[in-house]
Amino acid sequence: RTVYLKDYRAPDYLVDSTRLHFELQPQDTLVKSRLQIRRNPAAESAPGETLPPLLLDGVDLELLSLSIDGELVPASRYRELPEGLSIHVQNPEFVLEIHNRINPRDNTSLEGLYLSNGMYCTQCEAEGFRKITYYPDRPDVMSRFTTTIVAPRQYPVLLSNGNQIERRATEDGRLLVTWEDPFAKPAYLFALVAGELQTVEDSFTTASGREVKLQIFTEAKNIRKCDHAMRSLKKAMRWDEEVYGREYDLDIFMVVAVDHFNMGAMENKGLNIFNSACVLASPETATDATFQRIESIVGHEYFHNWSGNRVTCRDWFQLSLKEGFTVFRDAEFSADMNSRAVKRIEDVSLLRTAQFAEDGGPMAHPVRPDSYMEISNFYTLTVYEKGAEVVRMIHTLLGTEGFRKGSDLYFQRHDGCAVTCEDFVAAMEDANGVDLTQFRRWYSQAGTPVLEVSDAFDAAHGTYILTVRQSCPATPGQNKKLPFHIPLAVGLLGADGRDLSLDPQGTTQKVLQVSETEQTFNFTGLKEKPLPSLLRGFSAPVKVRYGYSTEQLLFLMRNDSDEFNRWDAGQRLAFMALEQLQKDYREGRDLQLQPQLVDAYRSVLQNPELDPALVAEMLTLPSAQTLAEQCERIDAEAIIVAREFARGALAEALKGELLDCYRRLDCDKPYRPEAADIAERSLKNTCLAYLCVTEEPELLTLAQAQFENAANMTDSAAALASLVNHAADDMAQPALESFYERWQQDTQVVELWFGLQSTSARRGTLESVRELMQHPAFELTNPNKVRAVIGGFANRNFIQFHRADGRGFEFLAEQVVALDKLNPQIAARLVTPITRWKKYTGELGEKMHRALQSVMESGRLSRDLYEVVSKSLV
Ligand code: ARG
Ligand code: ZN
Repeated sequence: RTVYLKDYRAPDYLVDSTRLHFELQPQDTLVKSRLQIRRNPAAESAPGETLPPLLLDGVDLELLSLSIDGELVPASRYRELPEGLSIHVQNPEFVLEIHNRINPRDNTSLEGLYLSNGMYCTQCEAEGFRKITYYPDRPDVMSRFTTTIVAPRQYPVLLSNGNQIERRATEDGRLLVTWEDPFAKPAYLFALVAGELQTVEDSFTTASGREVKLQIFTEAKNIRKCDHAMRSLKKAMRWDEEVYGREYDLDIFMVVAVDHFNMGAMENKGLNIFNSACVLASPETATDATFQRIESIVGHEYFHNWSGNRVTCRDWFQLSLKEGFTVFRDAEFSADMNSRAVKRIEDVSLLRTAQFAEDGGPMAHPVRPDSYMEISNFYTLTVYEKGAEVVRMIHTLLGTEGFRKGSDLYFQRHDGCAVTCEDFVAAMEDANGVDLTQFRRWYSQAGTPVLEVSDAFDAAHGTYILTVRQSCPATPGQNKKLPFHIPLAVGLLGADGRDLSLDPQGTTQKVLQVSETEQTFNFTGLKEKPLPSLLRGFSAPVKVRYGYSTEQLLFLMRNDSDEFNRWDAGQRLAFMALEQLQKDYREGRDLQLQPQLVDAYRSVLQNPELDPALVAEMLTLPSAQTLAEQCERIDAEAIIVAREFARGALAEALKGELLDCYRRLDCDKPYRPEAADIAERSLKNTCLAYLCVTEEPELLTLAQAQFENAANMTDSAAALASLVNHAADDMAQPALESFYERWQQDTQVVELWFGLQSTSARRGTLESVRELMQHPAFELTNPNKVRAVIGGFANRNFIQFHRADGRGFEFLAEQVVALDKLNPQIAARLVTPITRWKKYTGELGEKMHRALQSVMESGRLSRDLYEVVSKSLV
């Protein structure tokens, strides 16, 4: 079954109100729903005397009864479909009542209603509501929900969307609570939670003076880990008022932490549900990276209240309408709260490794896909991260004020509606009087565009000429691409390293409008040939090729006024050096690291003016995955050898400087998860990691001392990682054991502990990964544990996953097949690393292919896994 965007039809029926009644039992939950239904005046189905059948989605449901306007519907008037019901309709308006039964306890897919550590919770996006009851489960059907929950006394906390309007005991001594959501919403935003939960409370006063109650619910043991999320939430609420003029709209905003969760979090109206790992933190148990991730995800889900809930998607092809926009919003929020340049570097690194690889792989799809078998497979880096880049480009093209005018118009025009990416772009155009016709291709064409830039200087006229050629590789189903409209931000550096003025007003940066296959741009009034700083701030999700020399890159690294491009110049330099090393290795020459790279790293390390977080980023070599993505054909062995060699050579050459820097930053300050302190820890731990690469006993002792004395998880985990990767077993093992001993009660730390081991670059990691799967704390039904152990190994351990015997791939294939029976969404995601087999050279590619094939031949696959595997085998 493939669904196509071009087949979209407005729904035949609308649901004005949805009244739900749950009687919770682990294996036998009774759901009663009462739907006020009416014919959609805008329906596109053929008009006529007879009304079209009412189609309801339903999966894994036991139907008990069906009645219309109080009368049981006879079997002759409805049909059970493989995934739903078709009901014969006699009136254009009626009340449908459905009773059905579901089994939350055995629901390991974590979609619909399920149990997590005894707590009931739901995940309905994208198509999970159909696992709760029969319903038109599509986002363009918006309804007002009232939800009653009846549960045994062990579940004192019963939550759903909106405001609580009733709470009482039933005659048989159970608890009954009713919630009413005043905002019409699609079923994917429905949520229910029931459990024995503790709460942290706070409040927020909106710009217009409305008091909002804020609550975070967790199991009792986690109650002290909610402060950071609460602070982040209040910051996000203020930020959305200040930057977008958006206020919160209900009297209460609730957040619940759940241990079993497929994704990061979910923006259900008034009742956000979070993966515990994305909301719980304390200085002793969470790293800086976790603190920052929590701030951004709390912001993300909160921002969805406008970009997603008040204005939602017409259909799932429009997913990036809410996700791309909301990721852009959360990225700007994080940039405002922390270091803007470092946030940008992190986001671009992710895009360049994982999203570019997706765009160049068998599952490549446009930001707005035009077909899918299973929508869960399209919650991708392309829809989210590239989608955010597309919104960022609009922001760049319109400027901050113009963009704000556009977003105001968008929210005003479409409040309460289910709309399309086209509506978003149209609002941006209309508010600014601009034409984004060509720009729209970013939504419809897949693949990463390449810009080939060359230049010339006409000394006689003082004119500098930049020539830009764009192209985009073919992707599945799209052989020919039309040129994109690309905002290319550039600056020109003079011989003194300063930005040249590009016009009489003294502008030093221009956004070139690249829109043709080949185009030239002239800069006049120059005395000498400048050095271009291209794609500043990564102004478009493209690859830029320009024949920079080593000297020019060193110059940019030292002088570019754009911090992002300073970092990027360093990355280009490292990339060139690593390419040379790979070549030397393949051709049997001795390896030697370019001395200029060493010098460049040394001066970065000794530059007191740079933000330490930026220094840490600049000292980090491009990851093996990034290197792999940039190769036409991947020779995993050469990449690994080259990168390990370069790291070792840098560590050896810069030992003294690294040690000085480490010592200077190694002081015990009280822990604060604030940008300045995070930056210092980041640089300190980058130095430590390099020092341990040398495997010198005295340097490893530094890691051991840091491990033993650390008062926060950032320092403790960094030290342990260095030991695990570089110390001998007699040093690493006791550290791992004592760490587990100390933290075994803490789920989040145990996940981190799993991850440190599965990502170890040491030989034998695959064997320890198999052992970890036997560990009492491991659960195949818990996605966080699966991601930590199996995902860590397959996605974040390039060296051991690509071991030459292919056992890494076989292992992954085996686990994917087992997982598919429990949780198809997770299985389909986990299989990704072996779907890129075509890009690998030699036997490794064949072994990967064989592993993938074994998944296909293992038996009946879920729709999720089938889509990914079948598309990757062709
Ligand atoms: N809307 C959620 C978020 O990005 C993610 C939901 C994921 N659901 C799924 N079926 N993959 O905040
Ligand atoms: Zn989202």
